[in-house]
Amino acid sequence: MTKTCMVTGASGFLGRAVVQRLGVDRHVHGVAFRQADRFAALDLRNPDEVAAYLRAHRPDAVVHLAAYRDPDFCEEHRDETWALNVRPLESFCEWLPPEVPLLFVSSDYVFDGNRPPFKEDDPVCPINVYGESKAAAERVVLQRPGATVLRVPLLVGAAASVETSGFIAQMWQAVREKTPRVEDHVIVRFPTWIRDVAEGIAFLLDHRASGCFHLSSLRGATRYEWMREFAELVGESADHLSPSTEIVPRRAARPLNSQLNSDRLRSIGFEHLTDFREVMRQVLAGFSVPLP
Ligand SMILES: NC(=O)c1ccc[n+]([C@@H]2O[C@H](COP(=O)([O-])OP(=O)(O)OC[C@H]3O[C@@H](n4cnc5c(N)ncnc54)[C@H](OP(=O)(O)O)[C@@H]3O)[C@@H](O)[C@H]2O)c1
Repeated sequence: MTKTCMVTGASGFLGRAVVQRLGVDRHVHGVAFRQADRFAALDLRNPDEVAAYLRAHRPDAVVHLAAYRDPDFCEEHRDETWALNVRPLESFCEWLPPEVPLLFVSSDYVFDGNRPPFKEDDPVCPINVYGESKAAAERVVLQRPGATVLRVPLLVGAAASVETSGFIAQMWQAVREKTPRVEDHVIVRFPTWIRDVAEGIAFLLDHRASGCFHLSSLRGATRYEWMREFAELVGESADHLSPSTEIVPRRAARPLNSQLNSDRLRSIGFEHLTDFREVMRQVLAGFSVPLP
């Protein structure tokens, strides 16, 4: 019989890719909150709603993606952040039968970024509220026997249009506008394809792999360097972009280099770690952007 899998955050950037991938060989029960046109509406901050949903649907597995993920928002809304980023895990651990796999997507922001690359067993040391909330959620999840935590860094991929596709949209705009601008040349980022993460989630569920895993692309660069590479790929000049070697002050501090070591996942046979240049190429091709 085909297994059913509940996916929270199904309407989100990663959620849409995960629903599509898991839908290949499972019945997916996607849940969302405000954008619940295609999905069931469920406020995960309400434990009674979560319990009622689980009683009614009895999923064979749960993939939990929903979260506030803007570090600046989280920094100023600690209680609200905890209500969505941590409490639903407590509800899942309380209400899910022990044999049902629970997979939680966490973040490289559980690390301070000072001594990369980080392995799964390195002590967590978040430097902002978002990272603290993800680390707290991990502690809840990992108390449950058989549960899985998958940490990922900055995610990239295609949304509905180039203009709404996250980091690729920002590069697209910055490179085409030709307005002089300064781009960060301090923080090293490892943009990782949402399709690879969706593949990783399917892989971990298929292998019933439990514990903590990292999934990250292998080549890191600063935002300024990625912008230059993007410009070269689309045949545009990047002369209007200049590097900033000063850390731009933001509400939430950012780790300087939170590179995740993905060897544990690779050692059990996972191979989908697509280089960001290839992701850019495929995303632009998907939107029929002509490349030189
Ligand atoms: N994006 C990244 O670069 C990145 C990097 C590292 C880790 N992550 C982690 O990956 C996961 C997915 O991130 P994402 O980028 O896909 O996030 P996203 O696009 O911001 O999506 C967030 C999801 O959470 C849902 N949600 C919000 N409030 C809710 C509530 N009260 N009850 C139920 N659902 C609610 C949203 O539903 P509606 O839109 O329908 O309201 C949406 O589906 C998160 O756990 C995030 O921490 C993301």
